[in-house]
Amino acid sequence: MANILHIDSSPRGERSHSRELSKEFVSAWKAAHPEDAIAYRDLGHYPVPHVDEAWIAAAFSPAETHTPELAEAIRISDELVDELLAADRYVFGVPMYNFNIPSTFKAYIDQIVRINRTVALDAQGFKGLVEGKKAVIITARGGDFSPTSPASAYDFQEPYLRTIFGFIGITDIQFINANSLNEGDARTQSLSEARATIQDLISQW
Ligand SMILES: Cc1cc2nc3c(=O)[nH]c(=O)nc-3n(C[C@H](O)[C@H](O)[C@H](O)COP(=O)(O)O)c2cc1C
Repeated sequence: MANILHIDSSPRGERSHSRELSKEFVSAWKAAHPEDAIAYRDLGHYPVPHVDEAWIAAAFSPAETHTPELAEAIRISDELVDELLAADRYVFGVPMYNFNIPSTFKAYIDQIVRINRTVALDAQGFKGLVEGKKAVIITARGGDFSPTSPASAYDFQEPYLRTIFGFIGITDIQFINANSLNEGDARTQSLSEARATIQDLISQW
């Protein structure tokens, strides 16, 4: 039995393609693995806080020295890290905003990249602590950022997500990038390719 953490980050509801595709992935996975447990978090509708000065003071000092104010400042981050560590596999739905991720997803990342909890630092440098996990990241883009397209160099989304999740130890990541969703006919083809990739991945993940 595996624990799956499913996170959406589009502020849209029914109209969101990243939500639709991540839901399709998780439904197909659940049908194939009914024993698995699914935890769900909706960052698009229930954003997590940005880090602030008290958060920084708490994150970089030992928990046993925390005042009640500092303990409260880091409480949500601790919960999010516990949730991340409790999962074996992740399914993230992420729109492309301004060539990168929405600020809701960035706020989440700022909460879960934590020294001595998800990443360690020693004389050799940084070492990710979230090891042995797998992730599927489903992105939704209005334009075409596929490797052969002229705009591919503007894709700061997949490289950033690979880098930051790799930094905390999550290196086994499969991307399903649904491109051209604002481009009429191309949208239909892009969505059907994303769906086919989802079905392929379910048997291999
Ligand atoms: C604020 C904002 C910024 C966007 N920036 C980009 C962009 O840089 N590149 C792009 O291809 N599409 C961009 N789009 C289009 C979205 O990526 C596209 O509509 C996608 O389907 C959104 O995900 P969703 O359907 O899950 O809500 C942007 C949309 C919004 C609302």
